[in-house]
Amino acid sequence: MLLYPCNGLIRYHYSSSRNLAGKGCNIPHSEQYNLHSPHGSTWNCIPHEIGLGVEERKYGKNLVMEDHSLLLLVAVFLVTIRFILNSKVRKKQPPGPTGLPIIGNLHQVGPKPHWWLSRLAQSYGPLMSLRLGSVTVVVASSPGAAREIFEKNDQAFANRPIPESVAAQPNVGDTLAWAPGDQRWRRRRRVCRTEMLTRERLDLLQHLRHEKVQELVEHLGKQGENGKSVDIGEMAFATMLNLISNTVFSEDMVDPGFECAGEFKEMVWRIMEDAGKVNLSDYFPLLKRFDLQGVKRHVEVSYLSLHHIFDDIINKRLTQTQSSSLLKGDFLDVLLHHCQQPHSHFTLQNIKPLILDLFIAGSDTSGSTIEWAMAELLRNPEVMQKAREEVIKVIGRSKEVKESDIPGLAYVQAIVKETLRLHPPVPLLLPYVAGHDVEVSGYTIHKGNQVLINAWSIGRNPMFWDDPLSFQPERFLSSNIDFQGRDFQYLPFGAGRRICPGLPLANRMITLMLATFLHSFHWELPQGVTPQTLDMTEQYGITLKRLSPLCAIPIPL
Ligand code: HEM
Repeated sequence: MLLYPCNGLIRYHYSSSRNLAGKGCNIPHSEQYNLHSPHGSTWNCIPHEIGLGVEERKYGKNLVMEDHSLLLLVAVFLVTIRFILNSKVRKKQPPGPTGLPIIGNLHQVGPKPHWWLSRLAQSYGPLMSLRLGSVTVVVASSPGAAREIFEKNDQAFANRPIPESVAAQPNVGDTLAWAPGDQRWRRRRRVCRTEMLTRERLDLLQHLRHEKVQELVEHLGKQGENGKSVDIGEMAFATMLNLISNTVFSEDMVDPGFECAGEFKEMVWRIMEDAGKVNLSDYFPLLKRFDLQGVKRHVEVSYLSLHHIFDDIINKRLTQTQSSSLLKGDFLDVLLHHCQQPHSHFTLQNIKPLILDLFIAGSDTSGSTIEWAMAELLRNPEVMQKAREEVIKVIGRSKEVKESDIPGLAYVQAIVKETLRLHPPVPLLLPYVAGHDVEVSGYTIHKGNQVLINAWSIGRNPMFWDDPLSFQPERFLSSNIDFQGRDFQYLPFGAGRRICPGLPLANRMITLMLATFLHSFHWELPQGVTPQTLDMTEQYGITLKRLSPLCAIPIPL
């Protein structure tokens, strides 16, 4: 409806309500909302282009005028309220860089989003918003903002947006990492926490993990005797896969000689890489079905192959348990036990996405932590020496490192923590989506907004860490800061209801492997590389990896 003043009268005729905002109208904006007659008299409106007789027009004019005046007032009142509300909402949205029409800030996202977002936060503050295509993304970059999200508004951030590359897997709703935080998710998480990842259950299978680490030591020893360097990331990743698969299935996924580690590893790797890609389908829902970059098609193959592998393992286990009642005590036993209970919510189909999650979430993260830790130790030989002395003092030269030794290895534990501070494998944690409008730090995060926590940036902020860019495990010896999700300046495993459930297993596997590396080998950088020239460039996927693989020569001690 277009309003305009004319000689003290208000004329009206219908037009699009958009015109109220002044677009396509040559009347000054301020006047469009001015309903006061300049003469201070009663409203005097004439109907425009309606076919009535003179009398009718006179009589009808008054009625119609009254009706329309009222409507007009209501309309103007509503429009004004909306305008005020809109501007309030706009004002309350966290600040952020102006984007281009349609794509928003998508063109600005470079190859290192965690770094870029950290830089942006210096201009826009600890809570900022960006527009990526049609999605508004709010980024928290301070412990205070993270605390408000995880503690005060935990319930509102129970769900995650599901990237298209993740949705490519069968039954994504049955995963743990991506399922909505409903009853089903709670049930799965409870089983993981109380039956699979408890201290007792982990203790039960520790001998299998020790065996795997000793196999790695043998393999590295052979390489080192010949003066060959090894790709530490590759070895760590393959060993982590085997540590997890022995905890879940009591079986190896990667062959012990590390010769054909390839296939399984390739599939997991591909899933991680595709999940980290900027996929247009995630930011323009209309494009989803076209899968323009082919990400979904590319990754689907890996998901299906992994499901087939799991099918074979599950079927084999079912046949074994039919012929013998002997249980292995691994995670698969726990899940199959649940499947067999009357009225159980677990089935042979819906346990597979959960198993897959444990592999995907656990292997690359833990493997890359080992790789970064070793890189830092090679750059800081005095730290490496101090850690080795601790390991030898606590364990002795002749014995093998065991998970039960970990509580005595305070300095090695501090190295793991310091590595996770500087190189959190999941730098932006996993994304959240706001279930309703939420007030955080005086701003409004709107329902449907995606939320990222820049754990990488928080861990390097000089406001919360002394000399943040230097590798100093000692800082953790003299403080109680821990990664259990209570200290918001240090969030490598996240916090709140969706904190990483694999933390106890990850902590054991990483510390065991690192302590064994120090206990069994003296490490040398390949010729031409010095601690000062060792490349520490990061590569962003959904996990933060090293750009160039870390190679070093393991010399048996
Ligand atoms: C260094 C090793 C690891 C790191 C740094 C890590 C980090 C994380 C982070 C940051 C999250 C998201 C938390 C959040 O959104 O607040 C997460 C979720 C998850 N992690 Fe880990 N993780 C590691 C190892 C593992 C392992 C070994 C497993 C299992 C075997 C695992 C299983 C999971 C699962 C299932 C989730 C999803 C939880 C949910 O959404 O409810 N992670 N992890």
